[in-house]
Amino acid sequence: MSSPASTILRRALLYVPASSTRMMAKSLTLRSDNVTYDLEDSVTPSHKRDARKHLCSHLSSLDRTSTIGDLAVRINGVSTPHALEDLRALAGVPNLQTIVVPKVNSASDLSFVTDVLRHVAPERHSTVPGARPIKLIALVETARAIMDLRSICAASPYLDGLIFGAEDFAADLSITRTPSLKEFLYARSAMVTAARAFHLSSCIDLVCTSYKGPEAKSVLEKECLNGKEMGFNGKQCIHPDQVAIVQNMFAPSEAEVEWAVRLLIADKKASEAGRGAWTLQGKMIDAPVAARARVLVAKAKHCGFDVDSMNEKWQHQEPE
Ligand code: COA
Ligand code: MG
Repeated sequence: MSSPASTILRRALLYVPASSTRMMAKSLTLRSDNVTYDLEDSVTPSHKRDARKHLCSHLSSLDRTSTIGDLAVRINGVSTPHALEDLRALAGVPNLQTIVVPKVNSASDLSFVTDVLRHVAPERHSTVPGARPIKLIALVETARAIMDLRSICAASPYLDGLIFGAEDFAADLSITRTPSLKEFLYARSAMVTAARAFHLSSCIDLVCTSYKGPEAKSVLEKECLNGKEMGFNGKQCIHPDQVAIVQNMFAPSEAEVEWAVRLLIADKKASEAGRGAWTLQGKMIDAPVAARARVLVAKAKHCGFDVDSMNEKWQHQEPE
């Protein structure tokens, strides 16, 4: 089995319109886990060609010490005349790590992208050891895609994650978006489950379109909490102000980490004493609860928590 999906740190995915040289420059000063330069919906058809050209020179000028953890481009949908041009222009750019494919409807959309990448950049997409292929992330934003999640997840060896596109999904189903997000429950839950079943590294939640004004922060925090509880490991952002909030909300909280540390210390003692089920703070603990605590502690280490100090503080924790 692969490592637990929830330890992968793709928390904030920031879209940057490739038509804006100002925002592209700004993106290099930000500390987002992922930056996705967008050639799709934030670029009008008449600007696609120029945006693609500027994006290629922007990417080629970046040095490898860039602070961006994961550098991606959202190409145009494969049913448009632009997608092939996007792939031809981008596949050979060495700094590009990930391609986000929008409006993936079925497995054949990802097969198409996979075939083009292999054709345009054969060395990078060969089976030779050390080859570093461009990873793919599929944007799931139609009813058809939800019905075909199983084959979409198995369509390409380069597929690394899923993203939920709420606005297109709402348009496809004539859904009215509400603050509770209950109308997306089935689709979002199906995606998280499929991503986990196929060992994909990440499943990224919907965009919070409210980014400005007094309510923006609390709306975003509420959405993050909802997504984290459902099993998403990150969220799409459209504005730099959203990035730190998303990173913070998708990291474990201090209380969660402390609980997991205490649990694992006591669990070791319980299992040495031959106790499979035991109690901590009045709650029953057994193997799956301990497994969840282990994932949480691994994630906390990635997020910079001082787990060693917590271990020392709680070294005398006993199973109740
Ligand atoms: N990426 C990088 N920089 C961004 C940014 C983004 N997504 N959004 C805003 N900025 C920059 C602005 O250029 C500005 O930079 P400056 O300090 O150098 O002037 C700064 O952050 C503050 O921006 P602000 O004035 O608050 O916002 P704006 O009015 O310039 O832009 C939007 C608002 C919504 C148009 C813009 O955030 C945007 O285009 N977001 C992405 C939209 C997108 O990609 N949609 C498709 C995917 S859903
Ligand atoms: Mg969309």
